[in-house]
Amino acid sequence: MKDFKAKIEEHKERFEKALTRAIDEKSLQEVRNTYMSRKRGALKLLFEELKTLKPEDRAEAGQMINKLKMHVQKKIESSLKKLTVPKPLARERRIDLTLPGQKEYWGAQHPVSLFQQEMENIFIAMGFSIEEGPEIETDYYNFEALNFPPYHPARDDWDTLYITDDLLLRTHTSPVQIRAMEKRKPPIRIIVPGKVYRRETPDPTHLPMFYQLEGLVVDKGITFAHLKGTLEHFLKTLFYEKIKIRFRPSFFPFTEPSAEVDIECIVCGGKDEECRVCDGSGWKEILGSGMVDPQVLKNVNVDPEEYAGFAFGMGIDRTAMFAYQIPDIRYFYENDLRFTRQFNLK
Ligand code: PHE
Repeated sequence: MKDFKAKIEEHKERFEKALTRAIDEKSLQEVRNTYMSRKRGALKLLFEELKTLKPEDRAEAGQMINKLKMHVQKKIESSLKKLTVPKPLARERRIDLTLPGQKEYWGAQHPVSLFQQEMENIFIAMGFSIEEGPEIETDYYNFEALNFPPYHPARDDWDTLYITDDLLLRTHTSPVQIRAMEKRKPPIRIIVPGKVYRRETPDPTHLPMFYQLEGLVVDKGITFAHLKGTLEHFLKTLFYEKIKIRFRPSFFPFTEPSAEVDIECIVCGGKDEECRVCDGSGWKEILGSGMVDPQVLKNVNVDPEEYAGFAFGMGIDRTAMFAYQIPDIRYFYENDLRFTRQFNLK
């Protein structure tokens, strides 16, 4: 009888341990089966064992088994009940389901990158490919090869930070014209987006760093008509089909003839004499362009008798400011999410 009592105790202990390990419904059901199964459950086996005991002990032993059975049943039931209420919710944090949810902000592309891609896509559709070049340039690529001899007055408009006498932060993306023509022979049809630097005091329309998009086409029989057609198509696609465009004679050391391209002011349409965007002129300068100067072609060993080309360059952030009517270029670089988020509405 003593042995039997010890056996019951042992079962109880084992049951208790199994119960703490059972953390979900499935494992709890398993524990229940181990004890309660009508075929080979531990309790069933104990009842069978009764027969082997002395007749006078059977009543007491039977009671002990019944007690264990009730204990097992009660414990399993209460454990199952606790499972239906997820613990962390019930105990640690109460959630008010009537509150609006918290939206995660995943981050998105910067407005200047978005606008750059918009520009790139128009040129890619015309068969241009994208080229890049270093932001730290030599005097040769940034100036000399582009026909700015040392001390040429035009260098004053492109003053920049010098790293050594010969190394500087590039003032435009035009040096990549030279690098591209050195690398391969015409036909060439590339655009070059990238950062450029100039000696500027920050104000609403100037920063010492900004973005440009350069273009270069070199092939046999390229004329000014190609330049005009390409830029017109680009500007009409970027703005709208009916936008007015004008070409104005201009000067760049590396193009001849040169032209600046203006589009009608999209803010006032030329109707407001006090318009702050176009200063009342009705026009907004968008880019510089021209036919590649024969001397520039010679500098990279391309025969100007055989080949001709055109080039253009425009500010990306500057044009984005105009397109979206952003009054201050510095907004792009202050990282104020209230500003930058407005451009990612897709
Ligand atoms: N590089 C010139 C600038 O920075 C723009 C330009 C590019 C003009 C190509 C003509 C041809 O202002």
